[in-house]
Amino acid sequence: MHEATLLTATGLRKAFGHVQALRGVDLRIHEGEILGLIGDNGAGKSTLIGCLSGVIRPDTGSIIVDGQDVTFEGPHDARAHGIETVYQDLALAPDLEPAINLYLGREIVRPGILGRLRFADRGAMRREAATRLTQLGIDLPRLDRPVSYLSGGQRQAVAIARALIWARRLLLLDEPTAALGVRQSRMVHDVIRRVRDQGVTVVLISHNMADVLALTDRVVAMRLGSVAATFHTAEATADDLVAAITGSRAA
Ligand SMILES: Nc1ncnc2c1ncn2[C@@H]1O[C@H](COP(=O)(O)OP(=O)(O)OP(=O)(O)O)[C@@H](O)[C@H]1O
Ligand SMILES: [Mg+2]
Repeated sequence: MHEATLLTATGLRKAFGHVQALRGVDLRIHEGEILGLIGDNGAGKSTLIGCLSGVIRPDTGSIIVDGQDVTFEGPHDARAHGIETVYQDLALAPDLEPAINLYLGREIVRPGILGRLRFADRGAMRREAATRLTQLGIDLPRLDRPVSYLSGGQRQAVAIARALIWARRLLLLDEPTAALGVRQSRMVHDVIRRVRDQGVTVVLISHNMADVLALTDRVVAMRLGSVAATFHTAEATADDLVAAITGSRAA
């Protein structure tokens, strides 16, 4: 193994009441890879991503980014390390329009004194958002209506665009294409590859084994809050992945 390590998680544990969501997870994310994260419903995938993105505080365990021990008090701490996330529940502000969602917490401010007073430049954000969405091949009917007017798939596109725009080191995607049509899913896959080619590392949660096999370099399979197996994708079959998820055969 000569790959540089971007992030190492060691001994991550997280309980929700009586439910042991993570039972001591060790994970290494290599610089520049697309890492698949698979597992049945409730295996702990979103909880693990939550720990890496700062929305969930693990009960115990450590996270090292670029060789440095980190504690994420919230998503902004993960973002400061260049880590962006598309959450399974998307975490968009439904009453705000897409452009404002893209820049939530990082608003473009108006020039001059108004800017110093943190007045947002809505026009600039809309123009910039339109450009970015077009670059990503994402097509929204209108940009000037709140996200609540969009379809599930269109909302997913906005959440993906937001993460893609800001990710510098690591992009965490929790089932990003679950609500997307075939064409849009393909587009997102192309964008994921492009982002990786630009040097951003990607972790992709998916229940679609064909997508996982087509897109990833390695795959980590979780079961019942633990890592059950790790694969080099080139050496794995869909049967191997399913067996690791279900525990039907030692992998
Ligand atoms: N906020 C929470 N409160 C209570 N229990 C939780 C919470 N979040 C997750 N859990 C529990 O922790 C376990 C792991 O959940 P998690 O969401 O990480 O699974 P997952 O692998 O992402 O599943 P899915 O494929 O369905 O998204 C489940 O048993 C779930 O019920
Ligand atoms: Mg989940």
